[in-house]
Amino acid sequence: MNIQENISLKAYNTFGIAKNARFFVSVKSVNELKEALEWAKHQKINPLILGGGSNILLTQNQETLVIKIEIQGINLVLEEEEFYFVEVGAGVNWHQFVLTSIANGWGGIENLSLIPGTVGASPMQNIGAYGVEIKDVFYSLKALNRESLKIREFNAEECRFGYRESVFKHELKDKYVICSVIFRLCKVPKFHIEYGAIKETLEASGVKELTLKAISDAVIQIRQSKLPDPKKIGNSGSFFKNPTIPEEHFKNLRSEHASIPGFPNTEGVKVPAAWLIEQCGWKGKRFGEIGVHADQPLVLVNYGDGDGNEIKELAVKIQQSVFEKFGIDIHPEVNFL
Ligand code: EPU
Repeated sequence: MNIQENISLKAYNTFGIAKNARFFVSVKSVNELKEALEWAKHQKINPLILGGGSNILLTQNQETLVIKIEIQGINLVLEEEEFYFVEVGAGVNWHQFVLTSIANGWGGIENLSLIPGTVGASPMQNIGAYGVEIKDVFYSLKALNRESLKIREFNAEECRFGYRESVFKHELKDKYVICSVIFRLCKVPKFHIEYGAIKETLEASGVKELTLKAISDAVIQIRQSKLPDPKKIGNSGSFFKNPTIPEEHFKNLRSEHASIPGFPNTEGVKVPAAWLIEQCGWKGKRFGEIGVHADQPLVLVNYGDGDGNEIKELAVKIQQSVFEKFGIDIHPEVNFL
């Protein structure tokens, strides 16, 4: 085990924030992970587990051991009449897994193309895009208990998935490290093209026959047209979650703001946070090294040398202005560290 000291985390978070880790180690297997956890226990420090670093905002140096999960492997473990069951190591890059699935004809995650991050982090917040969420293809996961160092298997119900939510963000926060995930993928794909601009993009590209690859290409094209590439401009995708408000509140708002978009769900009406933020005048605003993306105001960006605290302060100002104008609390999707 190669524990390094005072390592910059700039390359390990998609926001590109330059904070340091007191100790840093990459682990490629469950045994290496156990070793690292034992080392941390011995030092009496609570380690930080890092996947692709695509959903975090670093606001301070991490005076602990940062464990980067690099457990690899994409293995077809079972084939049934309708499904393939594929076990994937937590450290596998999410988009690489999507591309492998498409190449093998495994259907179900093509709409989730180009999402930054790793497979191990994907169930944490039930990643989703273009009408599909991980819970739709999830079968089970294996996670290491950080105290007992024993592996436990979780089925979908035990993960308690919700919109950008799971049990690992609540009751079991910091209790387990996800080591691998088993996905249940379709032999005969069920295409989801009703959401957003997918249909129009397919038509504009002259696609005659729907395939996993055609859908993936369309999603990639849409994402590239509005979301900044983290390799060029630091960001962590949507900074806030889309809020759901009571129907009564929505009706009142609509009488004042006729163009407010709303999507009814079982708890009320979901309102796009992007719209609320744009209405408050933040879209495309730049403040030195940080700002609000011009094509998708739900995304906060670091142009280069931005500081995590500056982004945090900007986020608070955005939240306050949305609350003052619309009486709606918007909550970050990103974890502050
Ligand atoms: N909108 C505006 N102004 C804009 C952009 C969008 O008003 O500049 C409004 C429009 O009404 C538009 C609506 O926002 O119809 C929705 O926009 P979009 O389809 O881009 O999706 P989103 O709700 O902003 C969510 C996810 C994204 C995911 C897309 C597509 C959340 C927090 N974000 O964004 O996920 O890619 O849908 O499915 O749910 C992420 O989580 O990091 C992420 C990028």
